[in-house]
Amino acid sequence: MKNWGIIGTGAVAYDVGYAIQSIKENQIIGVSSRKLENANLFANNLNIPNKYNDTQSLIQNPDIHIIYIATPNALHYQNIVSCFQNGKHVLCEKPLVLSVDEAKEIARIGKEKGLFLMEAMWTRFIPSIEKMIDLLKNGEIGEIKMIQGSFGAILQKDRCFNKSLGGGAIWDLGVYLVSLTHAILGDPKEVDAHVVNGNGGVDTNASIVLSYSSGAIATLNCSYEAQLENTFVVYGTKGMIKVGSPFYRSSILEISSFGPIEEQPHQRRNPYQLLGPLKNAQSLKERVFHTLGKNSKKMVIPFHGNGYHYQIKEVLNCIDNKKIESSKMPLSHSISVIDIILQVLN
Ligand SMILES: NC(=O)c1ccc[n+]([C@@H]2O[C@H](COP(=O)([O-])OP(=O)(O)OC[C@H]3O[C@@H](n4cnc5c(N)ncnc54)[C@H](OP(=O)(O)O)[C@@H]3O)[C@@H](O)[C@H]2O)c1
Repeated sequence: MKNWGIIGTGAVAYDVGYAIQSIKENQIIGVSSRKLENANLFANNLNIPNKYNDTQSLIQNPDIHIIYIATPNALHYQNIVSCFQNGKHVLCEKPLVLSVDEAKEIARIGKEKGLFLMEAMWTRFIPSIEKMIDLLKNGEIGEIKMIQGSFGAILQKDRCFNKSLGGGAIWDLGVYLVSLTHAILGDPKEVDAHVVNGNGGVDTNASIVLSYSSGAIATLNCSYEAQLENTFVVYGTKGMIKVGSPFYRSSILEISSFGPIEEQPHQRRNPYQLLGPLKNAQSLKERVFHTLGKNSKKMVIPFHGNGYHYQIKEVLNCIDNKKIESSKMPLSHSISVIDIILQVLN
């Protein structure tokens, strides 16, 4: 039996708490909040025996093996260090921490103490995303040339607009896009961005462009001010894969292979000599279909529950196998993503 503790009682703590409890041989035995009434409410909902109004008492509970950290971003570093100092394995919410130095330091401490740490980048473990990554590795769409991703949601939470807590649309939403792009293309050669600041002095609207030595380019848009399409599309030399909206919890992959466009200049017809506007429109439609959709298929890859349990299974699997990092979501990956985001913000 693995015993978990949770720091924080916000929205995502509930979602991940239910996911932890959905897996056999796991139980949450403690939760901490700044206020005992929040801890009590959380504990009543999830049937947790120990409630604390301070983080340290939870972390020092000797029966807890793994701690899930669900506090605002700026608190992650100190929370992780305290967990490590008390011999706990850690799953920490995204973004892991807010500086490369902090990330390297916790990686060092974890290694020294032989304790597991993973950023809770749960989307990486959703079956449709796993499938997309497999298809890309197997060359399904040829050489990757373009990625387009968007994540926009009109959020009003205080922590999102509080700079000292690590707020802003990029750390909050853009991080998913940068992380997924990094899982596919690795470290970019160049990072460009246009960032607009809004309420609380945090970034509320941003467009990030990552370019790669392979010639690939990723354009990633995130926003607190507009609900975006929230899709993730990868284009290659032979086709494209689109993760349906919302990409972070999708059960749909649309895969199209591009047939070669047969250029036959001698057979080209002057569209202005066609009989009328309808016929002209029809011919355009056929051409677009031929280029983009000749061989299109939709794959339905369902996920269960709220989707957060896939990352929990990864944590348990790694700990059972005495690994201190996940090979799918290693700390080096989280560090690269932090580095990219800091280049965007500076
Ligand atoms: N994986 C996901 O899908 C997902 C979704 C949303 C957010 N997140 C991440 O999860 C973390 C928490 O986000 P959330 O949306 O759950 O936030 P939230 O609803 O604002 O909750 C944050 C919790 O942190 C605790 N906390 C401790 N110190 C705090 C402080 N100084 N100010 C505010 N809260 C403090 C609070 O618990 P007490 O009041 O009980 O002390 C609060 O309930 C963030 O790192 C965020 O990036 C992940």
